[in-house]
Amino acid sequence: MFTALALLVAVPAAASFELVAHLTPSASDSFDALAWSIADPESENYLSFLTPAELADHIGSPEETISAVSAWLSAAGGLDVRPNSLHTAVTASFPAEHSLLLTSAGLPDRDTHPEGVNFVVRRDARVTETEVDHPASPHRLASAVGAGSAYTIDAIKDAYNMPSDLQAQNEATTQMVWGPGSFGYSPLKLKQHARSECPLINTDKVVFDTDNHGESGGDNFGEGQLDVDMITSFGLNVTTIVSNTNTSASTEETTGFGAALLDFVTDLAARDTVPHVLSMSLGSLSAASCDLLCSQAVSDYGHTQQECEDYMATQRQVCMYLSQGQTAAINQGLQVLGTRGVTVLGSSGDGGSHFSFGSFSGGDNNISEDLNAISCKNQIPVFPTASPYILSIGGEMWDGEDSSKPITWAGYGGGSGSGFSIQFDAPEHQKQTVAEYLAKDGMPGGFDSTKRAYPDVSAVGVSGTSQSCPIFAGILSQIIDMRLSAGLPPLGMIGPRVYQVATQFPGEAFEDIVGGNSCTSCGEENGFPATEGWDANTGFGRPQWDGMVKHFATDA
Ligand SMILES: *[C@@H]1O[C@H](CO)[C@@H](O)[C@H](O)[C@H]1NC(C)=O
Ligand SMILES: *[C@@H]1O[C@H](CO)[C@@H](O)[C@H](O)[C@H]1NC(C)=O
Ligand SMILES: *[C@@H]1O[C@H](CO)[C@@H](O)[C@H](O)[C@H]1NC(C)=O
Repeated sequence: MFTALALLVAVPAAASFELVAHLTPSASDSFDALAWSIADPESENYLSFLTPAELADHIGSPEETISAVSAWLSAAGGLDVRPNSLHTAVTASFPAEHSLLLTSAGLPDRDTHPEGVNFVVRRDARVTETEVDHPASPHRLASAVGAGSAYTIDAIKDAYNMPSDLQAQNEATTQMVWGPGSFGYSPLKLKQHARSECPLINTDKVVFDTDNHGESGGDNFGEGQLDVDMITSFGLNVTTIVSNTNTSASTEETTGFGAALLDFVTDLAARDTVPHVLSMSLGSLSAASCDLLCSQAVSDYGHTQQECEDYMATQRQVCMYLSQGQTAAINQGLQVLGTRGVTVLGSSGDGGSHFSFGSFSGGDNNISEDLNAISCKNQIPVFPTASPYILSIGGEMWDGEDSSKPITWAGYGGGSGSGFSIQFDAPEHQKQTVAEYLAKDGMPGGFDSTKRAYPDVSAVGVSGTSQSCPIFAGILSQIIDMRLSAGLPPLGMIGPRVYQVATQFPGEAFEDIVGGNSCTSCGEENGFPATEGWDANTGFGRPQWDGMVKHFATDA
């Protein structure tokens, strides 16, 4: 049906926006088992990554659903209606004047969605120029690492016993950083960073993914700059893709972020070529965290649900997901990326185990005090880092600025993000390790020990875990570069292998961090301590280059 319509439109009118109908995930237990087996070093499927066509067979929606959804978009005036290669989404382009279907929010009413449609995301074309010169970003993340600080690029590499001049050799090796809203970077600033700290950065190998190059001055622009500075410093001479797939009017703070992330992971997994490493510094409290906070605000403190939701909407980058259904769909997208061979890394968060960044303030009826009380009674996870399919990267700093004395990074609204998911079960590979940790003294309350625990590992995070994540990502890119040059596949969903290596060869690939905790934002009582071995504060610790090469660069 939609093909017939598309044929009638010989020259489609210039599209001003697209609607992407994300289809209800049709994943089965058998796909879940397959995805984990591809990540399991003991399995015969290990690193046998899937093609889009193979994935379409496993998780794609049936042909009837694709046809019905396509017909719905066509009937509404959509042009060039097309399913993605995984058959998990259908996209249509709409001309500027088109208004059929749309509510004031610019999207079709949920009630009009045909069966099989999970979420509809709107993409508005946005072309921004690369910034050549601009005023410094006011954002706190922009550059806490600078001249005079102990945490220079060379000092960090030295702490990890990584050669400071190590450069990738394989043309194919690719790493990516992503964000919506103003996310981007200034090539000029990257050159300045290179000149002052890391002259070997190959700025010619940094490319934009889309026509949206971000907007200097925005919070996410500062974020993108830090991501690019770090990932290019540690992943020297690796091709770096800077991706801004801004999709809606509000992607920088409210639930538009979740829509953008869902759209991004779905789009990326359906591409012909995928990066080997994806570093994601952005996130917020998970949808389940926001649900828990508001439900307790209602049941224990007499607020109304609406009052709580309205208040949350005024808080920057605190509740950026629409629902647990949306985070479940994003989670599946992350799993699919793993099966294509992408290793996805996520910052563990900056608010310890209680907040997105810092505690709540303002609002009427004592709501912020009440939400702070609820936050401190519980452990409140952030997302996407609490996804079982992500390698979650916590933050370390150095006691007395002595690089041989790593401790948990503490700062901002608490420090290194820590804890347990509310929504997602613990993956098999971490159960034993986490059980051993929880048997130790000094454990807090207010979390579900059967869920996914994070972080997995750590790196320097004195500018927040938005710094530690791209550092670790760049290091992993170098390992993957060696693998590709040796004819080995990339590493995909790396969690099971990390737990296997770290428990069988303690101290070799990761140096343990035993000082610090996540009580930081809520007084002394209710947080996770860093301990010997894995902990829900620094994971297995920080990278040790030789051990990482030994255990991850070959499969012998
Ligand atoms: C950088 O990577 C390219 C492959 O893309 C390689 O030919 C070149 O030798 C590398 N540069 C250095 C300095 O190692
Ligand atoms: C994100 O996209 C929306 C819709 O086109 C636009 O209004 C907004 O300005 C964009 N934001 C950024 C920072 O690019
Ligand atoms: C405000 O909230 C705090 C923490 O829940 C509580 O201790 C205090 O009594 C509340 N104050 C008022 C005026 O309700």
